Amino acid sequence: MKRDFISMLDVKGDLEEIIDLAIKLKGKSKNGESIELLKGKTLGMIFEKSSTRTRVSFEVGMTKLGGHAIFLSKNDLQLGRGETIEDTALVLSRYCDILMYRAMSNEAMKELAKYATVPVISGLDNKEHPCQIVTDLMTIKEHKGNLKGLNFVYIGDGGNNMAHSYLLGCGIVGMNIKIVTPANYMPDEFFVKEAKKYGIKIEVIDVVNNCTKNADIVATDTWVSMGDEKEKEKRIRDFQGYTIDESLMSVAKNDAIFLHCLPAYYDYEVTKEVAHGNQSVIFDEAENRLWAQIAIMVTLCK
Ligand code: CP
Ligand code: NVA
Repeated sequence: MKRDFISMLDVKGDLEEIIDLAIKLKGKSKNGESIELLKGKTLGMIFEKSSTRTRVSFEVGMTKLGGHAIFLSKNDLQLGRGETIEDTALVLSRYCDILMYRAMSNEAMKELAKYATVPVISGLDNKEHPCQIVTDLMTIKEHKGNLKGLNFVYIGDGGNNMAHSYLLGCGIVGMNIKIVTPANYMPDEFFVKEAKKYGIKIEVIDVVNNCTKNADIVATDTWVSMGDEKEKEKRIRDFQGYTIDESLMSVAKNDAIFLHCLPAYYDYEVTKEVAHGNQSVIFDEAENRLWAQIAIMVTLCK
């Protein structure tokens, strides 16, 4: 049976194992040892939205594993001219050993996973961004040594893919999570309900004042996700007051770290002083996309 990774729930049984594998393979590779665990394998990468990190980190990751990656933009595929997702999945599965999909919708993601006969990895859709959350948890583990019991505070769009996957990821590893977001940007109830099953402390609030108190990790994401561009002006108005600046960081624990999946829009969700300041680990986080995805691909191909 093939195994997909299109939601954090797909790794609820072995998330920490995948994170530890990522840290181990990162160390090995940096030490000059070979990590060619997927020699001769091909990854097909379908993109319906722009990308810097996802595209490059998957492609480089496959090279390090001894395999090969093919970039497939929707507009260059027959998918962009009306070929069905079902037929695309069935055909690409005959050539490729793994598929990565950055999709406009979660329905399209599920459809591709349903018909592909090889593992499908989400490179983000409108509901989740699971590769990024494995990466972020790996980065937190590297900096903090552990995950369970830490206090994670996310300030920004509470209803986007990052917030949803953070809820599930924090639940699975036992980290408390606070989401600070305007009232009409709350997460989908499904993700809050799922996260609650793990017995972590969950708060979803709209008050920014002092919200970073006791935080070990402070995180944010863009206020305008891909697909939300039509609402850009309204969103910028609605999120006034939610910018993470040095005064908000100073309320967090002294050794708190700052995360952002990037791309960042300075002076909107975060100031450049914070994002490039001494508590920020955003470029470790960006690098770790590479190592986390290497571990994910190796795990799914087992
Ligand atoms: N964080 C992230 O997914 O970046 P890209 O959109 O550049 O792939
Ligand atoms: N929430 C953002 C993440 C980008 C990596 C988006 O979907 O555009």
